[in-house]
Amino acid sequence: MPPVLLAKGLEKRYGRTEALSGVDLEVGEGQLVGLLGPNGAGKSTLVKIACGLVRASAGSVEVCGAPAGSPPARRSLGYLAELFRFPSWMSADELLTLHQRLAGSTGGAAERTELLELVGLPHARATRVAAMSKGMQQRLGIAQALVGSPRLLLLDEPTSALDPAGRRVVRGLLEELRRRGTSVLLNSHLLSEVELVCDHVVIVDHGRVVAAGTPDQLRRQGGVEVETATGTRVFEDARREDVPRIVRELVAAGEEIYEVRVVASSLEDVYLEVVD
Ligand SMILES: Nc1ncnc2c1ncn2[C@@H]1O[C@H](COP(=O)(O)OP(=O)(O)OP(=O)(O)O)[C@@H](O)[C@H]1O
Ligand SMILES: [Mg+2]
Repeated sequence: MPPVLLAKGLEKRYGRTEALSGVDLEVGEGQLVGLLGPNGAGKSTLVKIACGLVRASAGSVEVCGAPAGSPPARRSLGYLAELFRFPSWMSADELLTLHQRLAGSTGGAAERTELLELVGLPHARATRVAAMSKGMQQRLGIAQALVGSPRLLLLDEPTSALDPAGRRVVRGLLEELRRRGTSVLLNSHLLSEVELVCDHVVIVDHGRVVAAGTPDQLRRQGGVEVETATGTRVFEDARREDVPRIVRELVAAGEEIYEVRVVASSLEDVYLEVVD
């Protein structure tokens, strides 16, 4: 089976601005991939190309094996734009009904109810967009992206307006989507969040991929610290597999050990190292 999203050698120029300069990216079946990078790195451009909203200057993007922008590619994906605005006079239910019609979904009222529950808005059916807080609108936006159960979900900063409780709801939602086998490409500036939920992380800067891997691969181990009766001993080049030997040697030397820590760099440390 082809990957759910496959970008190869993707380039995009807006006049003299080079937004993407040869990006390769893959989202596999059921994978949750985090796309990170500073403002202007090209993240939204990549997502818009995948949706068929922006045309690439060179390279290719396929969604479930179909060229980005083609009807089968568009049918396979759901999208929440980073700056979206829904008609203020519509209720949540009306907005989802409209998107069901646009997406050709036959899910009816049952799908709308399920989606509002999924995003934590079970009581907002009749609430108009105008009367919703930004966070509520963002949750509604995620529900909208899930209309018709797309295989690929493209979320461009879906939690930027959410309070910590709302972010946790979205995290739970992403985990639920993983259980259902939905693939997700998540653009975010919230590194800790990406670290918590994503299987794979891609960091872009100036239109290029500067780091990629699982969160564990990206977080480098950075030494071992041992608390002994005589103070903290730091073994800077040691890794997790060195711990038994270090402990054995210290005990043999008559040290008493209270705690051992394997120090790992956070995704944030790695991020700040690879982007300029
Ligand atoms: N329609 C456009 N016309 C001209 N330049 C554009 C257009 N859209 C984006 N750009 C430029 O392309 C580059 C990449 O923009 P993009 O929106 O993809 O970045 P981003 O990584 O999503 O940033 P952010 O984190 O701020 O959302 C930027 O330099 C931006 O100014
Ligand atoms: Mg963006």
